[in-house]
Amino acid sequence: MQEKIQQLNNKIALALQGGGAERIAKQHKQGKLTARERVELLLDPDSFQEIGMLVTHRCTDFGMENQQFPGDGVITGFGTVNGRLVYVFSQDFTVFGGSLSETHAQKICKIMDLAMKNGAPVIGLNDSGGARIQEGVMSLGGYADIFWRNTLSSGVVPQISAIMGPCAGGAVYSPAITDFIFMVENTSYMYVTGPNVVKTVTHETVTHDELGGANTHAAKSGVTHFACANEVNCIETIKQLLGYIPQNCEETAPVYPYQPQDDELRPQLAGILPDNANQPYDMREVINGIVDENSFLEVHKDYAENIVVGFARIAGRSIGVVANQPAYLAGVLDINSSKKGARFVRFCDAFNVPLLTLVDVPGFLPGTDQEWNGIITNGAKLLYAFCEATVPKVTVIVRKAYGGAYDVMNSKHIDADLNFAWPSAEIAVMGAKGAAEIIFRHEIAAAQDPEAKLKEKEDEFTHTFANPYRAAERGFIDEVIHPQDTRRRLIQGFKMLENKVANLPRKKHGNIPL
Ligand code: HXC
Repeated sequence: MQEKIQQLNNKIALALQGGGAERIAKQHKQGKLTARERVELLLDPDSFQEIGMLVTHRCTDFGMENQQFPGDGVITGFGTVNGRLVYVFSQDFTVFGGSLSETHAQKICKIMDLAMKNGAPVIGLNDSGGARIQEGVMSLGGYADIFWRNTLSSGVVPQISAIMGPCAGGAVYSPAITDFIFMVENTSYMYVTGPNVVKTVTHETVTHDELGGANTHAAKSGVTHFACANEVNCIETIKQLLGYIPQNCEETAPVYPYQPQDDELRPQLAGILPDNANQPYDMREVINGIVDENSFLEVHKDYAENIVVGFARIAGRSIGVVANQPAYLAGVLDINSSKKGARFVRFCDAFNVPLLTLVDVPGFLPGTDQEWNGIITNGAKLLYAFCEATVPKVTVIVRKAYGGAYDVMNSKHIDADLNFAWPSAEIAVMGAKGAAEIIFRHEIAAAQDPEAKLKEKEDEFTHTFANPYRAAERGFIDEVIHPQDTRRRLIQGFKMLENKVANLPRKKHGNIPL
């Protein structure tokens, strides 16, 4: 027996070496951790149970039969994060550049299947040169096996991708289907075709980082939800995110202990909005003033900054926040902010995270750029996502709610459960000046002093419509509330909605305007 145990120990020792000391040193020199170090950082101490440590590839072309590394370039298994089960795969760049072979793919599929059967998140730590070139179509098939599982898992268990090295070619499409992408600054990049191909085809000269680095995807494309300064920060943020979301679509997010410490009034909320309704302010101040202290985790922070989305807790319970941001483009809705908001709303709805919508929106962004690039279709995504969401939905109109954007931002008409407004709310078809110019055009033109007349009519319109009371009279706003009372109202409101049941009409699936 001892001999057999020794044989096993030798095999384990070989697997633990990955691609060998030299390649590990190269990985470290590049500022990257190894696949195993990443798993250790992610999971609770001693919780990792590896699956498939001794798997090897089956390729016999190009002398590959003589190059065998147990584990075949990916570490797979399960463990816990803060005591909760997760499945994990971590690509090992020291073994064939983390490239994906048939067996490497099978290992990933195996844990994805387990995650689906047992209802727990899958976390993929990606660091790979892409398809294992020596395996050709076997590798491509392996990718497609993963894509198919990513798609079936979507909305069933949360899927999180961290990009911690290269992720190129078709390999990008697995992370793209998952719920959240994390990238590490300076050491990770994602693109469909690299700088050389770009140079040949479009004659553009661009670096790896400019083309597909973390900051590019965080700010320009919106492909990544989080750009992290380093790998440790990346893994810490993944753990933080997991704290806001449930294990699967049948469950709700964990509730954190919360001791009410006062009357829950927040007087500072009354002092955030400037006196002039056309002045900007940072909506994050409103969010932080309402939710539990330090609980706001912003998602997609650097992309489409005219809308703010993220997770927070209110009296210990997880919520998703969607808020217009007047500090950026006056909080207008455009193509990118609509897509950003819609994707977040759909995640929250899929995983039973109640939604808080904070509204201060002057409308949709005008212009040929927006129209020709499809603000109609893209704006409809946000509308559709809010309409379809059946989780508890609470809205607070803080200031402007103009035009179609009023309807879109989780209005009463699209089945929001509780709609509040601050006394500063302005709910109308359009701004006072534009409205006065249209409906009093003849009167203004005939006036002795047209400018004075316009001002008079503008004031009249403001007085009549730029307030929350018409909407409140109709019941479109349930209550006009004191800003300082917002948090207390929301705690009670979300508690009241805790057991909400709402079903959509039976269908195969809807047809969101993609
Ligand atoms: C097999 C690979 C590999 C690959 C890297 N290696 N990529 N082996 N298949 N795709 C091996 C290298 O031979 C090397 O082996 C080791 O990994 C490390 O690679 P280096 O080149 O030394 O590392 P580095 O200089 O850091 O460069 C990293 C890299 C480069 C930029 C990723 O390796 C590279 O360009 N690789 C090829 C990328 C590629 O074209 N992949 C296919 C994309 S298409 P040794 O033994 O020396 O350590 C694709 C389609 C997917 O993926 C479609 C899905 C639908």
